Amino acid sequence: MKGLILSGGRGTRLRPLTYTRAKQLIPVANKPILFYGIEAIVKAGINEIGIIVGDTKEEVKAAAGDGSRFGCKITYIEQDEPLGLAHAVMVAEPFLKDDRFVMYLGDNIIRDGINELVGQFIENKPNSQILLARVSNPSQFGVAELNGNLIVRLEEKPKKPRSDLALVGVYMFDSNVFKAVHSIKPSWRGELEITDAISWLIEKGYAVEPYIIKGWWKDTGKLEDLLEANRIILDMIDCECKVKLEGGSRLEGKVAVEEGAVIENSVVRGPAVIGAGANVSNSYIGPFTSVGPGAKVVNSEIEHSILLDDSEVSDIAGRITDSLIGRAAKVTRSAGTPRALSFMLGDQSEATLL
Ligand code: TTP
Repeated sequence: MKGLILSGGRGTRLRPLTYTRAKQLIPVANKPILFYGIEAIVKAGINEIGIIVGDTKEEVKAAAGDGSRFGCKITYIEQDEPLGLAHAVMVAEPFLKDDRFVMYLGDNIIRDGINELVGQFIENKPNSQILLARVSNPSQFGVAELNGNLIVRLEEKPKKPRSDLALVGVYMFDSNVFKAVHSIKPSWRGELEITDAISWLIEKGYAVEPYIIKGWWKDTGKLEDLLEANRIILDMIDCECKVKLEGGSRLEGKVAVEEGAVIENSVVRGPAVIGAGANVSNSYIGPFTSVGPGAKVVNSEIEHSILLDDSEVSDIAGRITDSLIGRAAKVTRSAGTPRALSFMLGDQSEATLL
């Protein structure tokens, strides 16, 4: 078996962060989202992984490298334009050849991994197996209709869903999927849709089986989903403090502190992670917060937030919550007059004031 991770795409829903960075490299609990997918595939016993890359290819390659740190071999596969998930399968054909494979959307996190479903796919040998989850709002997803242990129909964002089983971002195929992706036509949005490719397989009589996930999963394509993923994953971290706390600081609950971080006269209430070389001074870091490497929090309070590398929050009077602060972004207070709010926000940034 091989693995295929999709790490191209446009990431429009996470602008402005995705103007300058691959969304799959945004960290959750200070680890790039993409790495959760790579690790899940390796844990399932697969060590040959192809990663689909687009405009952000250099950054993705620099982050994941040749795969040796994960115990796998990574091959990068360029997709000139993000023309759809089925298009990504098409461009990966020379890499996948006749092997069965698991396709994993690079912005998804599956908390309990994919061992069980990969195991089931290997054992039952259907032509395809699709990960499904029960959701309360199926009309916003691709929805599967089942008959016994087969998927008999898929509908994309149906107005009247026939079930509450949504397609989650993991799919398994044998090489018959290539016939499907070469046969389908682009959808109204100009993309080769994976749901159309799977529907093609179903119509031609190939066995497409469901795997209904019980544990938590998330497509981290939007800010609130990223914060939720951060919350769930932080709850699972190992507490380890690699530095000596300074000046009456306190860690409460599950807190991980990386090397070189300075925590001075502050309270960190977990679950939280403080990255390498970060500086927390005279501050309160509340639950579900990830402070990235090199970030600085001075005279401020922040909770339920993600601070990326080298960002800075200083001298802020109110508590900051539900926020994502980009790399090297600064939120500070000016000492001078006039006493006024002053911003330099990138395109499509959001600032919510009291
Ligand atoms: P999506 O989240 O569906 O698409 P997107 O990344 O373009 O984001 P947005 O809707 O916010 O503009 O993609 C799911 C995953 O698949 C994501 O990791 C990006 C990847 N992808 C590709 O690699 N190639 C593609 O052609 C597409 C559409 C997505």
